[in-house]
Amino acid sequence: MIDGIKTLDDFDFAGKTVLMRCDLNTPLDPVSGDFLEDRRMRSHLPTIQELMDKKAKVVCMAHQGKPGESEFTSLDKHAAHLGKLLGCEVKYADDLFGPTARTMIKNLGDGEVLLLDNVRMYSEEALERPPEVHSKSYLVKNLAPLADLFVNDAFGTAHRSHASTVGFTPVLPCVAGRLMEREIRALSDVTKNPKKPIVFILGGAKVKDSMKIIQKALDRGVDKILLGGVLANVFLAAKDYRLGEPTIEFIRGKKFIELIDVAKQILDKYSDQIVLPIDVALDKSGQRIEIPLSELPQDYKIVDLGKLTVQKYTNIIQSSGTVFFNGALGLYETPAFAYATEEIIKAIAVAKSFSVIGGGDTVAAARNLNVEDNITHVSTGGKASIDFLAGVKMAAIEALKGQ
Ligand code: 3PG
Repeated sequence: MIDGIKTLDDFDFAGKTVLMRCDLNTPLDPVSGDFLEDRRMRSHLPTIQELMDKKAKVVCMAHQGKPGESEFTSLDKHAAHLGKLLGCEVKYADDLFGPTARTMIKNLGDGEVLLLDNVRMYSEEALERPPEVHSKSYLVKNLAPLADLFVNDAFGTAHRSHASTVGFTPVLPCVAGRLMEREIRALSDVTKNPKKPIVFILGGAKVKDSMKIIQKALDRGVDKILLGGVLANVFLAAKDYRLGEPTIEFIRGKKFIELIDVAKQILDKYSDQIVLPIDVALDKSGQRIEIPLSELPQDYKIVDLGKLTVQKYTNIIQSSGTVFFNGALGLYETPAFAYATEEIIKAIAVAKSFSVIGGGDTVAAARNLNVEDNITHVSTGGKASIDFLAGVKMAAIEALKGQ
């Protein structure tokens, strides 16, 4: 048991059909569609392997991308790759709950693994609804009668109240998989008994989500939040800095303009805790130009934190007790503008603090710099890890409780 949630230790799996929600969402090469890395897939291996060893029939459900995105694909390649990692066949149903999937589930042998098609092929999957409502969805009504147990191992998707993450919990016995368990244990250590001061470093593109998290985290006693990326630019605009047309145009294009007022309200309440850049880097035809804020506005887009800001943030990290980093601080995919993201990762890796990182670019930076082993916990969740640390209740974890 962990936090009122049963784990794989609490059931006898021999001969049982297990529906297991995984998070196999992986960055894909835009041209070839090949996996750019496979960290999430590897992170589920302990759970799948344990269920196979215990002679369960393992039926995996997962998503890849969102409808309308280029990364929204079926999961046949995921099945093949999982099979390679496990060293055995992973069967694949190009169907989610139709006749093919149901027949393959019924015919699965003990210790065998089957992956169903992308759960987001089902239009009602991603509606944010409570467990009781999702338990009446076609997905649950068709699959639950074929299964004995639901295992949720998809920590990265635990903030979503989707059919496959919460819908089985009212109708089947449920447990957390080993990855879910590991994430909850590691992140609970930070939330229940954090070493002060607590420092969050937030960047990335999900500005609206980040705004909510910032308020929540500060209300719960996070000491400093250091900002980067477009999130920092929205806060600079809220402090009446004129950023220049290319940067404002980008903020407008992403529909973040209305968030400037939200940033103002946060700054009114928490001006001492929010730490903003003191200099920035601009993209002058691919060349990195550094300027202090006093030289704004400029006709070039802001694409990274400046070096003085990175030094300031590094000093704060060095004296932190707990540090959490999510989201790139500049245009990470362009080497000239990856400076801040990389330097901050290096600072976290040498700091003595309890450190947690989460999210695609942040984790990729740690891996590329070969410092993953120097981070206390590398989470498989992006938004999920921020929500957890900010104390936001996570739908799929709540749904596992009290089972
Ligand atoms: C992620 O990549 O953060 C998780 O797989 C959740 O994906 P989502 O943001 O598309 O729900």
